[in-house]
Formats: sequence, C-alpha cells, structure tokens
Amino acid sequence: VTGWQWDASLFAGTAPHYRAGRMAYPPALADAFRDALGLDGRGRLLDLGCGPGSVTIPLAPLYEQVVGLDADAAMVDQARAAAADAGVRDVEWVVARAEDLPQDVGSFRTVTLAQSFHWFDRPRVAGLVRERLDPGGALVHVQAMTHRGEAPGGDLPAPPHDEVDALVRRYLGQERRAGASTLPAGTPGDEAEVFRGSGFDGPERFPVPDDRGPLERGEDEVVSAVLSLSWAAPHLFGDRLEAFVGDLRAVLRATAPDGRFAERAPPVALDVWRPVER
Ligand SMILES: C[S@@+](CC[C@H](N)C(=O)[O-])C[C@H]1O[C@@H](n2cnc3c(N)ncnc32)[C@H](O)[C@@H]1O
Repeated sequence: VTGWQWDASLFAGTAPHYRAGRMAYPPALADAFRDALGLDGRGRLLDLGCGPGSVTIPLAPLYEQVVGLDADAAMVDQARAAAADAGVRDVEWVVARAEDLPQDVGSFRTVTLAQSFHWFDRPRVAGLVRERLDPGGALVHVQAMTHRGEAPGGDLPAPPHDEVDALVRRYLGQERRAGASTLPAGTPGDEAEVFRGSGFDGPERFPVPDDRGPLERGEDEVVSAVLSLSWAAPHLFGDRLEAFVGDLRAVLRATAPDGRFAERAPPVALDVWRPVER
C-alpha cells in the first residue's frame, strides 16, 4: 500500500469478531475451484492472509495438504478452532507475514489470496508466489466482500451500513484508520497491473454460483461484522469501545427493534492468474 506501513495492530482484536460476524463464502466455492483449476486431489494449497480460515477450510478436501498463513496470531487461533469444528485436519497453520514466506514452506499447486492482497507489499509477494508455484500451478485472487451485503428484498431490513459508517467516523475521525496510521484513499485495487508486472498472465474469471438468497443476520453478527473491520478494530476505540458498541446497538435497533436483519452476500469470483512461460 503506497505510503502506508503495515504494523501488527492492523487486525488486532478482530479475529473472534471476524469468525462470528462475516458472511460465509458460498457453499459452491470448493466446486468452483475444482472446476476452474481441474483439481484431482493432488498437490498443495497455500492461502496467504487466511484470517480465520474462511477459504482455507472449505478448500482443504481438494488437496493433499493445505497451508494457511496469516500475520495475526489470533486469526490463526480462530482458524485452528474453525478447522477442528469442521473436522478438517491436515492443515498447517503459519503465523508470518506473507512478505516473509518461509523458505522451507515447499511448493504449491494453488496459491489463494482472499481479501488480503491489498494489505501486502504486492510486487514482493506476487514474486514470491511465482517462485513457489508447481509447473502448471495457478494463483487465484478471490474477488469477495464478506462484511457488507446488498439489499435483501423481503421482510427483514438490511443493516443500516451508512449510519454505522457515520458512527465509526464520529468516534475515529473522517480518515480511514489502518493499524497505527490512516489510509485516506483506501487500499489499492489495481492488482491486475501488479500481477502482470510480476510475470503472471490473466485473469481468467470464474463466477462462484450462490443460491443462498438473503442471509438472515442477527444484531450480534452485525456488531461483530463491524468490529471485524481493520478500520473499526476494537483497539482503535481504546476505553471508548463499550460506549461505541452501545451506540452501535442503538443505531441497529432503530432499524430493527427485534435485532433481525437480512442481506445478500455480494457476488464472489475467482480470478485465475498463471505464470508466463519463462
Ligand atoms: C480481510 S482478512 C481476509 C481473511 C480471509 N482470507 C477471508 O477472505 O475471509 C485479511 C487478512 O490478511 C491478514 N494480513 C494482513 N497483512 C498481512 C501480511 N502482510 N501478511 C500476512 N497476512 C496479512 C490479516 O491479518 C487478515 O487476517
């Protein structure tokens, strides 16, 4: 991220909220990977910036072995717990920055980046990924947004996202917070140029079907979705966290006194990038 320095507080305190409050990826995610990449159960997967394993865990059955890596140790704790709940074994969890990908991590048939690449030193990580791919392997940039959905239609209201954003700004200021500093212009979105500049060809895009319809979201889930955000991470509120959560609940109850919301998960797509032949 240009002019912005990563620090360990970026997602501090968000991990349990991330697991509790983010919308799950569509159940068809694994089938979409299998079909897009022609997977046959062989090879290894590396998920960089895996968070609580939201993508790592559903994909694990498609590979011989899977590695989930995240810089935030609490995220990896949540991922371990989620994998145990899902009965998924054979995942190696690594606490490290993607930029410091350990030398002995091995090579991979697939490397996934889901809602994480924008936080990395992107050319550096894209270069490391290229070195780690098996012949015929691919990098998959998962296009997704799991914190905020689209209008549900139906009887239940959507969470009042704009009012919530305004409340966050009232507490934390107009400039978007990110770890110890701010990101006034947000994170970069021009990853295609970065991948091409790092020797990848693509993307070939595969939409992930999602027939779930509107997802019901309870007040606690919506509160957690907010506290899962880097720009509303619990630590940023300091000793005003309790006051913020009280005000947040009041905003939510003004829309849904019974605490019941709904929203449609935004579309998810797989952007497949392959190394250009050297
Ligand atoms: C928005 S979450 C995405 C989690 C998961 N991949 C998903 O799609 O639900 C971003 C994750 O990237 C991790 N992260 C941010 N910068 C990182 C870095 N430099 N190296 C490794 N992980 C990093 C954060 O700790 C966080 O867990």
